[in-house]
Amino acid sequence: MDTSDFSKPVLGIETSCDETGVALLRWQPDAPGRGLLAHVLYSQIKLHADYGGVVPELASRDHVRKLLPLVREALAQAGLAPADLGGVAYTAGPGLVGALLVGAAAGRALAWALGVPAIGVHHMEGHLLAPLLEDDPPAPPFVALLVSGGHSMLVEVKGIGRYRILGDTLDDAAGEAFDKTAKLMGLPYPGGPALAKLAEQGRPGAFHFSRPMTDRPGLDFSFSGLKTQVLLAWQQSDQSGQTRADVARAFEEAIVDTLVIKCRRALEATGARRLVIAGGVGANRRLRAELAAAGGREGFRTYFPRLAFCTDNGAMIALAGAIRLAHGQHQDERIQVFPRWDLESLPAA
Ligand code: KG4
Ligand code: ZN
Repeated sequence: MDTSDFSKPVLGIETSCDETGVALLRWQPDAPGRGLLAHVLYSQIKLHADYGGVVPELASRDHVRKLLPLVREALAQAGLAPADLGGVAYTAGPGLVGALLVGAAAGRALAWALGVPAIGVHHMEGHLLAPLLEDDPPAPPFVALLVSGGHSMLVEVKGIGRYRILGDTLDDAAGEAFDKTAKLMGLPYPGGPALAKLAEQGRPGAFHFSRPMTDRPGLDFSFSGLKTQVLLAWQQSDQSGQTRADVARAFEEAIVDTLVIKCRRALEATGARRLVIAGGVGANRRLRAELAAAGGREGFRTYFPRLAFCTDNGAMIALAGAIRLAHGQHQDERIQVFPRWDLESLPAA
């Protein structure tokens, strides 16, 4: 049944949260990005906006509606037929269980029908490897800053599947802090990008918030106290448009500063000279600029995925899956998802 042939394209499916992402990638070890044949994305933002956050049941149903049309669209873009596929990769966790099951069921069933191997991909490994889709990809060892809606992590990467978590969030993830802070100032869901845009009009120094947990050693993060500081400052202010922008700017500076300080510490602790930034908050312009500047000053190199591959997408899942399939790893013939899944438990490839 599982006949591996990795000159053939791998289909990647992402359905862990509120984006349906599909991509096709032909595995090329030296330049993985050049093997990307198609990628398409459908975002459910409008669907969840009225509720101020992702409604899991609605997310699952919408993945059901959108996934197969997107698979057809990606195949058409690449000029391929299902029979051309060499394997199928789908996000198996972490994420919303119902949403994950849509991608896992469709992906595993399609692979079974085509007689090709399938692999369940760890969503955060997908994010972590996304910079490999760009020109001049980073080679391990490197440190990865993974900052998304659900995670804020610093990871030492010695190779594919050889991950050590250096620091994790004790409460809110960085993206979650952006979203919650935006919400308490009345910005629409998803607040992160809106708050970042607003911050561009904020005046420097109008407000100042603390850089949580930077006054003691360690690489863990905590952002929930920062959110409370913002809430108090906002409630006690005149709540004008300019004030909202000023608070947004001070909040963004506090988060970005904190992340930069921890990245520098992680590089120092591991001796690595390469820093990969990935996950939705990796799309933040201030974070990208500050980390690139710190790298220039201190002699480390920064690697970012393009903006579309910072947030959830199918290309990163196709890539992570293609690498593992090319190393002979695959899933047996059952549909299995892991809503919580430890990144360190992955096998090396
Ligand atoms: O990686 P992602 O697409 O989904 C998860 O796996 O969680 O990350 C989404 C998160 C959201 O919290 C969103 O507000 C945040 O990334 N985000 C941003 C920006 N773009 C997306 N946060 C700050 N600045 C941005 N430009
Ligand atoms: Zn994600």
